[in-house]
Amino acid sequence: MFQISAPIRSHRALRPDIFFLELEAPSIAEKAQPGQFVHIKVSEGFDPLLRRPFSLHEIKGQEGTLGVLYQVVGKGTKLLSQRQAGEEIDLLGPLGKGFSLNFSGDHGVLLGGGIGVAPLFPLAESLISAGKKVTVLLGARSEGLILSREKFSGLGCRVLVTTDDGSLGEKGNVIELLKKYLTDHPVDFLYACGPEIVLAHVDRLGVERGIPGEVSLEAMMGCGVGACLSCSCARKDENETGKKYAKVCSDGPVFSFGEVQI
Ligand code: FES
Repeated sequence: MFQISAPIRSHRALRPDIFFLELEAPSIAEKAQPGQFVHIKVSEGFDPLLRRPFSLHEIKGQEGTLGVLYQVVGKGTKLLSQRQAGEEIDLLGPLGKGFSLNFSGDHGVLLGGGIGVAPLFPLAESLISAGKKVTVLLGARSEGLILSREKFSGLGCRVLVTTDDGSLGEKGNVIELLKKYLTDHPVDFLYACGPEIVLAHVDRLGVERGIPGEVSLEAMMGCGVGACLSCSCARKDENETGKKYAKVCSDGPVFSFGEVQI
């Protein structure tokens, strides 16, 4: 893990509340794995005191850059959205446990709800370069919240879309889309990131149908490095060392299906 001061290479709004931040962070970019996150000090002062966690949407080890795709949801993300190219941002990373990249079989399905798509892009890149076939299921309230569709297609992924209001793709939600997809497509491994309710459904479906997979959880975080316990979640079963709780920041944010209570 590194603590660095990273120059902002670019920072732009994709929609009024969705931003893409590109940082020059060679030491972190070289080591980061899909599913890991960085903990960012969003302002130059001490308000807010706590850093904010952001999953990595782009990891370019050779160029030494990281991309963060995020939605403005509160004070911290609002302050971050006001930072300009050329400024430097204090960040810690790479943090947490990322996605498993090896699974038996060749077909991985990535399910993203809304901004939950963020950590799935570097995952798709890694799976495609490992020779896997990748299908991406994207769901959101409406067309404007379907993010990175063209980027996934550009990698060679098959992309299916659903929106609550039918403004893009099939009308419905991403769980219905997944269930329909599973009726006639064998899936070797399933990954999901998005709202907690979506993750709870995917986790249950995977366990019931015996499909292996992982979910990436979000949590309020303090330290981001396993020291403060503010991100704890309950395990479904005690782990091998008798622990009933997991820390999202250091045991996760990626967990296997059936591992924690969602
Ligand atoms: Fe401190 Fe996870 S944020 S233990």
